[in-house]
Amino acid sequence: MSYPGGKGNVFQHIINVLPKHRTYIETHLGGGAVMRQKKAAARSIGVDIDPIVISEWQNKHPERCELVCADAAQFIRTFPFSGDEVVYSDPPYWPSTRRRPRIYRHEYTEHQHLELLNELNQLPCAVVLSGYQNEAYESILTGWQSITFLAPTQKGLREETLWLNYNLPQELHDFTFIGGNYREREAIRRRQETLRRKIERLRPIERASLVSWLMEQYSLTEGQDEGRSLYA
Ligand SMILES: C[S@@+](CC[C@H](N)C(=O)[O-])C[C@H]1O[C@@H](n2cnc3c(N)ncnc32)[C@H](O)[C@@H]1O
Repeated sequence: MSYPGGKGNVFQHIINVLPKHRTYIETHLGGGAVMRQKKAAARSIGVDIDPIVISEWQNKHPERCELVCADAAQFIRTFPFSGDEVVYSDPPYWPSTRRRPRIYRHEYTEHQHLELLNELNQLPCAVVLSGYQNEAYESILTGWQSITFLAPTQKGLREETLWLNYNLPQELHDFTFIGGNYREREAIRRRQETLRRKIERLRPIERASLVSWLMEQYSLTEGQDEGRSLYA
């Protein structure tokens, strides 16, 4: 499943901003690159209005998530949110920012975008929305953070934006893809592998001592509020 606007090349940027959560909801599933690559949540739900998208998922990734064939805004209006969800929305791009006017079987009008933003704005949980910069989003998503990254398109790199209704999290749901680009990710992966191998070779008592130091140093024991932040 390859989608125009699919996140197959850039899913790492999105996974790297997702805070810890119990329920993950992707409202415009398409090829669902983020859904497929991220660490599974206790509950995952993929929504798409296109029955063909839903039936492809039923055939190819039947275990990955609950699948709902519905309009995204309608789904959000009726889902019983409790606050420990993360919603990721990747609607077709805002019309005036599009290079090609029609690429999906189900297109998205300005009215639908505004309806979606209005719903997302009222949610009690973490929300991530992706798209290209546009004035409508900027004027509606006041108080949201935005971060940008370069994404490959058929005509070269183009800046994509992620709008977040929360501050960048210190603790991620999934640390697998940390690093801003391939080289950084590889360097981090190698450093961590070396450290892990060293830790695994320690005698159990030495390892226990190290763990105890980590817990004290970074306030990892419950009720303890002194010590450095793990993320400082
Ligand atoms: C930009 S694509 C999503 C790409 C996806 N993130 C990926 O990695 O492949 C947009 C998707 O939104 C779906 N869509 C269009 N209108 C919708 C609506 N009203 N509600 C839910 N999904 C919709 C389309 O069928 C399409 O699959």
